[in-house]
Amino acid sequence: GKVRAPTHIISTISDDRGEEPCYAGVPMSSIVERGYGVGDVISLLWFKRSLPRYCTHFIEICIMLCADHGPCVSGAHNTIVTARAGKDLVSSLVSGLLTIGPRFGGAIDDAARYFKDAHDRGLTPYEFVEGMKKKGIRVPGIGHRIKRGDNRDKRVELLQRFARTHFPSVKYMEYAVQVETYTLSKANNLVLNVDGAIGSLFLDLLAGSGMFSKQEIDEIVEIGYLNGLFVLARSIGLIGHTFDQKRLKQPLYRHPWEDVLYTK
Ligand code: ACO
Ligand code: LMR
Repeated sequence: GKVRAPTHIISTISDDRGEEPCYAGVPMSSIVERGYGVGDVISLLWFKRSLPRYCTHFIEICIMLCADHGPCVSGAHNTIVTARAGKDLVSSLVSGLLTIGPRFGGAIDDAARYFKDAHDRGLTPYEFVEGMKKKGIRVPGIGHRIKRGDNRDKRVELLQRFARTHFPSVKYMEYAVQVETYTLSKANNLVLNVDGAIGSLFLDLLAGSGMFSKQEIDEIVEIGYLNGLFVLARSIGLIGHTFDQKRLKQPLYRHPWEDVLYTK
C-alpha cells in the first residue's frame, strides 16, 4: 500500500496546490464570479463555511464601523508616534495593533464569554454585574472614555438596528442591553461599548444562523475569534494614519514637558 510520510504541519483552511487557490474548498474563481465580499472570505477562512448573506453583511459592517476612531485613541496614537519616528509601514501598524487588548478594542471575546455565561445561567443583570464587582473584574464590553448615557455610541446603535432587522433572534443583545440599563443606573459612563455590542451580537449570529453546533459555538468563544474583527478592522485605520503622517512629513514626536507631572 501507499506509505504516507508524516507531516509537520496540518492545515484545514486553504489550499494553493491546484490550478487556483481555494479558501475552505471554494476556488478563487467562484469567489470572484459569485461576487463574494470580504465578509464571505472571513467566513471561509475563519469559520470554514459559507455563511448567509445577512451574517457576512454584519461582519462587513463590524469591519467598516471599527476601521478607525480618530487620532487620539491608543492604537492610532502609537501608530502616529511610530510613523513620526521614521519607522516603516509594518512597524507603525504593529505598534498600534499592540495596544489592542482588554481595555481597548480587545474586550470582544471576554464580553462574549461573560455575557454568554451569565445569560445561559439565567443571572439577572444585577446578579451578573454585582458578582463581577465582588470578583474585582470590570464587565468587558461596558464603559467608555468619552461615550455616556446621554451621548451613546452611534456604532452600537447601528449594529443593534441591523441585527434587530435581520437576525432571527437577538437574545444575547437584549441581555447586554439589560446589563447596560443596570450599569447606567450606577454611572453615566457605563454604556454598552462597541466591543460589548459586537461580542453579544456575534453570539446571536452564531446561535441564530443554524450554521454552528453548540460545541462549535463554545469552541469559537473559548478560542476567542472575535477580537480578530477589531484587529482586522482597525488595521485599515492604522495604515491610513501611517500614510497620513508620511504625507504630512511630520517630524519626530516628543511629548511636551508641560504635559507631564514630574514628581517624587
Ligand atoms: N465594569 C464595571 N465598572 C466599571 C467598568 C466596567 N466595565 N468600567 C468602569 N467602571 C467603573 C469602575 O468603578 C471604575 O472605577 P475603578 O477604577 O475603581 O475600577 C470607574 O467606573 C471609573 O472608571 P475609569 O477608570 O475612570 O474608566 P475609564 O474611562 O478609564 O475606562 C474603560 C474606560 C477602560 C473602557 C473601562 O470602562 C473598561 O475597562 N471597560 C471594560 C473593557 C472594555 O470593554 N473595553 C473596550 C472599550 S471600547 C473600545 O476600546 C473600542
Ligand atoms: C475606539 O473605537 O477606538 C474607541 O471606542 C476607543 C475610544 O476611546 O474612543
